[in-house]
Amino acid sequence: MNLYEKCTSDVAQILRGGTLFVLLVLQFPVLFPHFFGLLSHAASSKPSEWNAVKPRHLSLLKSAVQRSSGEQSDLWRPLTDQGWKPCIDPGNAPSIPEKSEGYIQVFLDGGLNQQRMGICDAVAVAKILNATLVVPYLEVNPVWQDSSSFVEIFDVDHFIDVLKDDVRIIKELPEKFSWSTREYYATAIRETRVKTAPVHASANWYLENVLPVLESFGIAAIAPFSHRLSFDHLPPEIQRLRCKVNFRALRFVPHVRELGDALVSRLRNPSWRNKEQNVDHLTDITNSHSRQEPGKFVVLHLRFDKDMAAHSACDFGGGKAEKLALAKYRQMIWQGRVLNSQFTDEELRSQGRCPLTPEEMGLLLAALGFDNNTRLYLASHKVYGGEARVSALRQVFPRMEDKRSLASSGERARIKGKASLLAAVDYYVSMHSDIFVSASPGNMHNALVGHRTFENMKTIRPNMALIGQIFLNKSLTWIEFQQKVGEGHVNRQGQIRLRKPKQSLYTYPAPDCMCHV
Ligand SMILES: *[C@@H]1O[C@H](CO)[C@@H](O)[C@H](O)[C@H]1NC(C)=O
Ligand SMILES: *[C@@H]1O[C@H](CO)[C@@H](O)[C@H](O)[C@H]1NC(C)=O
Ligand SMILES: *[C@@H]1O[C@H](CO)[C@@H](O)[C@H](O)[C@H]1NC(C)=O
Repeated sequence: MNLYEKCTSDVAQILRGGTLFVLLVLQFPVLFPHFFGLLSHAASSKPSEWNAVKPRHLSLLKSAVQRSSGEQSDLWRPLTDQGWKPCIDPGNAPSIPEKSEGYIQVFLDGGLNQQRMGICDAVAVAKILNATLVVPYLEVNPVWQDSSSFVEIFDVDHFIDVLKDDVRIIKELPEKFSWSTREYYATAIRETRVKTAPVHASANWYLENVLPVLESFGIAAIAPFSHRLSFDHLPPEIQRLRCKVNFRALRFVPHVRELGDALVSRLRNPSWRNKEQNVDHLTDITNSHSRQEPGKFVVLHLRFDKDMAAHSACDFGGGKAEKLALAKYRQMIWQGRVLNSQFTDEELRSQGRCPLTPEEMGLLLAALGFDNNTRLYLASHKVYGGEARVSALRQVFPRMEDKRSLASSGERARIKGKASLLAAVDYYVSMHSDIFVSASPGNMHNALVGHRTFENMKTIRPNMALIGQIFLNKSLTWIEFQQKVGEGHVNRQGQIRLRKPKQSLYTYPAPDCMCHV
């Protein structure tokens, strides 16, 4: 787990304090009005917290806004073939065991992308045990607050169908086991619950500790389950199965894909806007439009929510009010256990431990050569500081879009207020972009880096430590800044990097799930 994953699962764990607690909280908000007040406060920070937001790199920002156009010709060029191809066939013949050892149930914490990894691991564990998997149960995350179930996010029939030769998967437990619910496990200690799976447990751990439960009771409910299967020392067919789940079996529900397709098409054909406004000239525009090359676009994923800003303990230039507000939030959620707060802002920056602000991402992208005509799609939840903070980025990229600017509220009605579905749409658009850049190495970043590697798509990975150090030098000219940023990112545009021991298969799918050809 990296720093940021740790941050989000810490939030979950501390807020949860055991599944029982979260159940009580979620079921009886009346008992915890203060707690709930704090959470909703977290979601909508008061203007007074950040009305002092000013650009932190004013002279660079001025140069970036006035930068000349003329992009390097290879900026938008797709990656060349790097000699690696997806390789997820299990090899041997379909291998559904004749007899199922019982039912595996998992309860998954975290946001959409952490749950995604949990789903892949659950399929792998069911395979290791020759068990039947019940479609995973997605817990409501205290930060993201979305109660959407698996079938409301993912196309469950596709999921079952793609994996039909690998693992038995059922949507619901048979009547005989219908007592095995989340509520049942939340109210007492139960023999069918496996609570003790260590982080990154081995296949043997499951054979030794879960198989006996299956043999005795016919069912085992594993919770917590996030990050509970090792990335190392597993049979190659299990590794490939995990990738098959992640990259082939998990597909979003049709309405998410349809909205995603509409957003992608509007990003590629900006004249859709004129079309909508001038219905009279529809034929003209359609004609000229059909001759026009579809445009390219870049997705910028910003994870600059308040929890992230607070956990980093960095100074984001919002003045004293912001510093106090973040310190208070940090104290409330993590009770002084945030290691970062022992360091100065300068130390944190030079170690690359500060999420980049919208302004810094704007400067970075401009320095990498994106001109002011670039269509930039902002994939993001809530930006801490709101428009005051986003405006610096908008100055550098006036043609910035997001879900709200591209789709009507009617079109967005089914995903409105649902963090997982909003993230799903952003994931989908990100997978269809020419270039993807993320401002902090969290779960969404890792998921997309892995998925795009698998498909050989261009992905810029900011060098956080280098950028932190570059920004510390306040006397750099634009040319110097551009040069340093450029040099530091030559090899960070999607070149294949092989997974090292302990690293995630979902972030680095080569060589386990890709073959060198
Ligand atoms: C981009 O910058 C040029 C000047 O460098 C300016 O003339 C043009 O209007 C800008 N384009 C947009 C979309 O703001
Ligand atoms: C699962 O089934 C395979 C054959 O289908 C067998 O070789 C393996 O030992 C079984 N494993 C368990 C845990 O039952
Ligand atoms: C900042 O960058 C300039 C130009 O590269 C350099 O001369 C100066 O030494 C740097 N300052 C620091 C504190 O690193």
